[in-house]
Amino acid sequence: MSRLIVVSNRVNPPSAAGEESVGGLAMALAAALREYSGLWFGWSGRTTPEFTGQLSMQTVDGVTTALIDLEEADLDEYYNGYANRTLWPLFHYRTDLAAYDRAFGEGYSRVNRRFAETLRPLIAPDDLIWVHDYHLIPLARELRMLGVKNRIGFFLHVPWPAHQVFTTLPRHSQLAEAMFDYDVVGFQTEEYRQAFEEYVLFVAGGAQSGAERLQAFGRSLRTGAFPIGLDAAEFARMLKTARARRMRDLMTAATVFRHLVVGVDRLDYSKGLEERFLGFERFLADNPDLRREVLMLQIAPVSRESVGAYREIRARLDALSGRINGEFSDVDWAPFRYVNRNYRRDELAGIYGAARVGLVTPLRDGMNLVAKEFVAAQNPEDPGVLILSRFAGAARQLKDAILVNPNSPEEIAEAIKQALSMDKAERIRRWRASFDNVQREDVTAWRDAFVGALAGARERRPALAS
Ligand code: ADP
Ligand code: G6P
Repeated sequence: MSRLIVVSNRVNPPSAAGEESVGGLAMALAAALREYSGLWFGWSGRTTPEFTGQLSMQTVDGVTTALIDLEEADLDEYYNGYANRTLWPLFHYRTDLAAYDRAFGEGYSRVNRRFAETLRPLIAPDDLIWVHDYHLIPLARELRMLGVKNRIGFFLHVPWPAHQVFTTLPRHSQLAEAMFDYDVVGFQTEEYRQAFEEYVLFVAGGAQSGAERLQAFGRSLRTGAFPIGLDAAEFARMLKTARARRMRDLMTAATVFRHLVVGVDRLDYSKGLEERFLGFERFLADNPDLRREVLMLQIAPVSRESVGAYREIRARLDALSGRINGEFSDVDWAPFRYVNRNYRRDELAGIYGAARVGLVTPLRDGMNLVAKEFVAAQNPEDPGVLILSRFAGAARQLKDAILVNPNSPEEIAEAIKQALSMDKAERIRRWRASFDNVQREDVTAWRDAFVGALAGARERRPALAS
């Protein structure tokens, strides 16, 4: 079996406890690599005055991580800049927030080159290389320039936007061309795969060359939809731990005679938190008789705070949560609890398990693993109800959730009411269908499907006549 090299900006080295939480991508990759004895290469999360390319390597549970520090300017121009101020908003349809700065583009290219140059000596001829997410789209091009002939795959964790949106990116063609240095490119859903295909066919003048094969820029590649999943077996184990049970009991005790409505998200403007808060406020306003029967808990650890748009959304949410409690609280009771802390994964599992309603309403989301975690944590005999945004990739799989338009506080308010009044038989029926999917299309299935496609790709990519 070939060795697997995974490359991502964010790396979560497995720890002895393995319970900490760091966002969807890192959780999934930690799980995916566990059985592979592979190498995981990426950024350490630290900066150094001058880039040295020095690797810090560590092996835990068969997974070797190789991490590099970046310079302060890299952090500004690549991570906070091109990745999180240009591509992230653009790929989540927030062209109003997307910033275009020549220095960002240069930083992005520079860091991708640095990643390639540092990774190059670690690559053996048979290795499969699997690159992740929008931070590293040009990595294959940089590796090819250094003579790497290995099969290289790319998986995009976020949406690929419609071509009308993608073309608002200055030099979009260059970025799209960089995708063609991969042998396989994977997307979370068929919709995103098609959006990429449409760009290639209608804007880049490319062509289809067989099922899910595209050619353009003198090259060809395979595309596919590979929906990412949970480490379902590990999640089931975690649910049974003492910490998970204690947290579930604690939350159950804290909501006696009330139903818990829960949201768990990185504090990101793509997560629809403002509209969700307004939806809950409207629910309280419209349903005076139900007010005292609910507690909404929103957990939202701060994220990417060096970027202005994240500080701004945080300030708006602080104000909104204060307003809701100010308006509806009583001397002995408050409807809303908003916390910006990170919790251990086992504790989160316990919180989901105590909730009657899971509110997962991103305005756009590549997949959304929280939706799947909520489903996986429910008691089969008395499960809670998932309210899920139509614009999360997960909505393509969890079709039995209550699907809502996350832009509409009215729809969110009505969905909360519907979820709270849903009888047990219907809750069980809907949950069962979602749970089956979460179990079946889990992280192992995702990894095996992608790695299978990559391993099956031709080793030497034929140069097409251009
Ligand atoms: P994203 O990757 O955009 O943050 P996902 O929903 O796909 O969104 O993944 C988020 C991951 O981060 C989940 O595994 C979730 O459990 C975890 N997470 C989110 N908020 C917290 C929190 N407050 N504490 C701990 N883990 C969290
Ligand atoms: C999303 C992105 C990941 C990223 C994660 C956490 O899931 O797709 O690439 O790692 O958010 O964000 P951060 O910027 O903290 O790595």
